[in-house]
Amino acid sequence: MKTLTVALGDRSYPIRVGAGALDALPEALSRLEAKGSVAVCTDSNVGPLYAQRVNELIADAGLRPVTCVMHAGEANKRLARIDEFCGQFLAEGLDRSSIVVALGGGVVGDVAGFAAACYMRGVRFVQIPTTIVAQVDSSVGGKTGVNHPLGKNTIGAFHQPSEVIIDLTLLDTLPDRELKAGLAEVIKHGVIADEALFAYMETHRDAILSKDLEALIYPIERSCEIKAEVVAADEREQGLRANLNYGHTFGHGIEAVSDYTRFLHGEAVALGMHAAGALAQELGLVDTAFVERQQACIEAYGLPTSWSELPVDATLEAMRRDKKARAGTLKFIVADRMGHVTHRTDITEEQARAALSALCREPAGA
Ligand SMILES: NC(=O)c1ccc[n+]([C@@H]2O[C@H](COP(=O)([O-])OP(=O)(O)OC[C@H]3O[C@@H](n4cnc5c(N)ncnc54)[C@H](O)[C@@H]3O)[C@@H](O)[C@H]2O)c1
Ligand SMILES: [Zn+2]
Repeated sequence: MKTLTVALGDRSYPIRVGAGALDALPEALSRLEAKGSVAVCTDSNVGPLYAQRVNELIADAGLRPVTCVMHAGEANKRLARIDEFCGQFLAEGLDRSSIVVALGGGVVGDVAGFAAACYMRGVRFVQIPTTIVAQVDSSVGGKTGVNHPLGKNTIGAFHQPSEVIIDLTLLDTLPDRELKAGLAEVIKHGVIADEALFAYMETHRDAILSKDLEALIYPIERSCEIKAEVVAADEREQGLRANLNYGHTFGHGIEAVSDYTRFLHGEAVALGMHAAGALAQELGLVDTAFVERQQACIEAYGLPTSWSELPVDATLEAMRRDKKARAGTLKFIVADRMGHVTHRTDITEEQARAALSALCREPAGA
């Protein structure tokens, strides 16, 4: 097991990564001087698989586990869940010194993290991510929150976890489509920060897709390292942290016009990265070889780089509405070489339209 650190002064915290890392939970709880009850927030898919084991580890630490379950799925990432979770915390007598454990994917992590941020004006929480998205992205960085019918992730708080425990064996039960979608974020980390990581994804595809634990350790650890460095340098997304949004400006627009149902987030990000590649080429920042290399890697993981019915105008409109469009200016993250990106705020509507048009084709072999 390897331990990484998110360096945020007195709010610094460890990320423990490895096969079997979950066994470190009792030690983590004792380091945090947990007392009394520990709330384990999970969802209706993950709870039946792993809550009992987590509860046993909590009991091993001499503490009382309390399980709080929400229905699985993005549609349930709503303010009502905060009310419910906090209600359970109150009923079970959790106090300011209690700890909340988020056991699940990004949805559970965001909701449980936000509940922890709100309960008694903030209690500590531990992330135990169970999807690739959560292990390489959402569990690190302290962004928590829920959706509002008028906008995704629009109600939330920055609340850093006290510890992140990434156990790769929990991925065993993760559905294939979720696995692949999560790997889009790993490919993204390669493009924005590390050509070696990108090359690893190119050469280890089969082992990674078969969830070979040995093969998964490096990309997950490296992704956490990249995210941890970015968060430590720019916790509140004033600058550098925006790099993590590579593929997301287009991706969020695509998610919105497809009603958040057609594509998983990672699939929309895959499309968004391809559009960002087309944009970078149009700007003369990269050549065709870059675009083709990125496309081949995305497609090798069964992720989309085309959507023949993409509504270009509606997507542009949705991108403008996205909360990241400050004062009407869209910020695009574009690569200028593999492993390095830059920000552009001077992209014209025509250029963005042309980039999106690169997605409007039938998939290869269709
Ligand atoms: N806070 C952040 O910085 C951040 C970053 C990226 C994404 N997010 C958020 O994360 C969410 C997406 O996360 P996600 O992709 O993990 O989705 P998710 O939490 O909905 O999990 C996907 C599905 O897999 C199931 N599942 C999870 N782990 C499993 C396992 N080990 N075995 C079997 N089934 C399992 C879940 O029940 C769910 O049905 C979005 O709401 C997004 O906004 C947040
Ligand atoms: Zn993402």
